Amino acid sequence: MLSVRPFVPFCAAATVLIGIGLAAFPPLASWAADTQSGGATTRSIANANAFSSAARNLPPQMRRRFFVGNKIFTATWAASPNEDTTFVGLGPTFNAPSCIACHVRDGRGAPPEPGAPMTTMLIRASVAGGGATGGPMPHPALGLQINTSAVDGIPDEGTVTITYREIAGRYDDGTPYALRAPTYAYAPPEMFAGTAPVLLSPRVAPAVFGLGLLEAVDEEEIVARADPDGDGISGRVNRVWDTAAGAVRLGRFGWKANTASLRDQTAAALIGDMGITTSVFPDENCPAPQTDCRAVPTTGIEADDTILADLTFYTESVAVPARRRADDPAVQRGEALFDTIGCAACHIPRMVTGEHRNPAVRGQTIQPFTDLLLHDMGPDLADGRPDFGASGSEWRTPPLWGLGLIEAVNGHTFLLHDGRARGIAEAILWHGGEAAAASAAFRALAAPDRVDLLTFLDSL
Ligand code: HEC
Ligand code: HEC
Repeated sequence: MLSVRPFVPFCAAATVLIGIGLAAFPPLASWAADTQSGGATTRSIANANAFSSAARNLPPQMRRRFFVGNKIFTATWAASPNEDTTFVGLGPTFNAPSCIACHVRDGRGAPPEPGAPMTTMLIRASVAGGGATGGPMPHPALGLQINTSAVDGIPDEGTVTITYREIAGRYDDGTPYALRAPTYAYAPPEMFAGTAPVLLSPRVAPAVFGLGLLEAVDEEEIVARADPDGDGISGRVNRVWDTAAGAVRLGRFGWKANTASLRDQTAAALIGDMGITTSVFPDENCPAPQTDCRAVPTTGIEADDTILADLTFYTESVAVPARRRADDPAVQRGEALFDTIGCAACHIPRMVTGEHRNPAVRGQTIQPFTDLLLHDMGPDLADGRPDFGASGSEWRTPPLWGLGLIEAVNGHTFLLHDGRARGIAEAILWHGGEAAAASAAFRALAAPDRVDLLTFLDSL
C-alpha cells in the first residue's frame, strides 16, 4: 500500500540542538555578510543536513519546541485504532504517512521514474468553476487532490503515472540541449469511472526551510512589487481563503501562492496529504461517493491544537543554508549576469522581514530570490488548473536560496513545480510567458557566461 519506505525519518534537529547556546555565535565578520541568505537564522551547513537545522538565532528556550516539532514532522502516523503511538489517525485516504516522507530531509520531492508510483509529489484535482471559498471547485469524487493510498479495506483514489517526451533545442551558439515534457496518465479506481473531466496539477514537495522568514515579509512590500512596471513583467498577488484565520489573505506558500499562512498550510497538509483532522479541518477527507471511506468511524480531532501549533512553529523555524563560494570571481560574474539578463526582476535578491510572532524571523535582511508573486510562465509550463486568483499558466516565483544544495540533501537536481527540469539550465530554458525574454537572454549568452550564471545559482 505504501511506497515511502526508502525515506527513513531522519532527525537532524537533534544534532543541532545539543549544546548550542546563542553565545556560541559571535557577530559575523563583515566578509560573511552577503552569504547569510536567511539573515541571522542562517547556518553554514552544506551537507545532507543543510535544510533541517534550527534557525541559528532561535532563542535557547525555544529549541526544545523545535525538537518537539521535528518529532511530529518526522513521525509516521498510524491508522486508528493503535495504542502503540500518539500519532494516530492516518487516512482513511492519504498520500503519505509522514511529512518527512515527501519533504525528505526537509528538502524537495522528485517525480518518480516513468511509470512508477509517486512518493514525494502529489496531484491536485478539481473541476471547472469556483469552490465555496473562492478556491478550486473540488472534484466530486476525488476532492482537491488524488490520495494515492488508503488504510486497509478502503479503496484509494487511483494512481497517476508520468511519461516524458524529449525535446531537442540549441543555445544561440549552436550548443545542443534537451528538455523533457511530461504527460500524465490517471488510472481511476473503478468506482470513479465516468466522473466529470478532471483538472490536474502535478506538484513536487518544496523544501521547508526559511518559511517563517517568508511569512514575516510585510504584505505591503509584496503588494508594492505587484504593480506592472512596463517591462512586460507584472507579478500579481494571489488572494486566498485562509481556513485557519477564517479570512481572505495574501497567498505566499505553495507553487501558486495558494496558501496564506504556515498554520493553514500545516493543517491543510495534515488533512489533505495524510488524512489527519485538526480543529481547522475537523472532517475526514471523504467525498460523497466514497462510501467506504465515509463509513470509517470518526475518532474526533486526530492532531490537537498543541500538535498543530508545534508543527507550525517547526515550519517557521528551520534555518536557511548560507551561500557558498561568494568570493569566487565566477560566482560574482554570474550574480551580475543574473541581474543584467532580467532574472532579478522576479527572483528578487533582497528583502527585509517585518513583525512575526516568532522572534527568530523578525527584522531580518534575507536573500530569498523571490517576489512571492504570480507570473504567467507561458503555455509550456501551464497546468490549466486555476487556484484562487492564479490562472492555469501562473506560478509563484519560487525562492532560489539553497538551490545548489538540493543534490546534497535529496540526491537529485529536479526542478520546477513538477520536477520536469533535470537541472538548473533546463529550469531556465522552460521559462516562457513573462520570463520569455530572460530565458532568451540566457540562450544568447556566450558559453563562459552561461557557466558563470549556473555557477552562481549553484552557490546559493
Ligand atoms: C504527499 C506529499 C506531501 C506530504 C505528506 C506533505 N507535504 Fe507539504 N507539500 C507538498 C507539496 C506538493 C507542496 C506544494 C503544495 C502546492 O503547491 O499546493 C507542499 C507544501 C508545503 C509547505 C509550503 C512550502 C512552500 O514553500 O510554499 C509546507 C510548509 C508544508 N508543505 C508542510 C508540510 C507538513 C507540516 C506536512 C506534514 C503534516 C506536509 N507538508 C506533508 C507535499 C507533501
Ligand atoms: C517573470 C518572472 C521570472 C523571471 C524573469 C525569471 N523567473 Fe525563474 N521562475 C519563475 C517562476 C514563476 C518559476 C516557477 C515555474 C514553475 O515551477 O513552473 C521559476 C523557476 C525558476 C527556477 C526553478 C526553481 C525551483 O525551485 O524549481 C530557477 C532555477 C529559475 N527560475 C531561475 C531563473 C533564472 C536564472 C532567470 C533568468 C534567466 C529566471 N529564473 C527568470 C519566475 C521568473
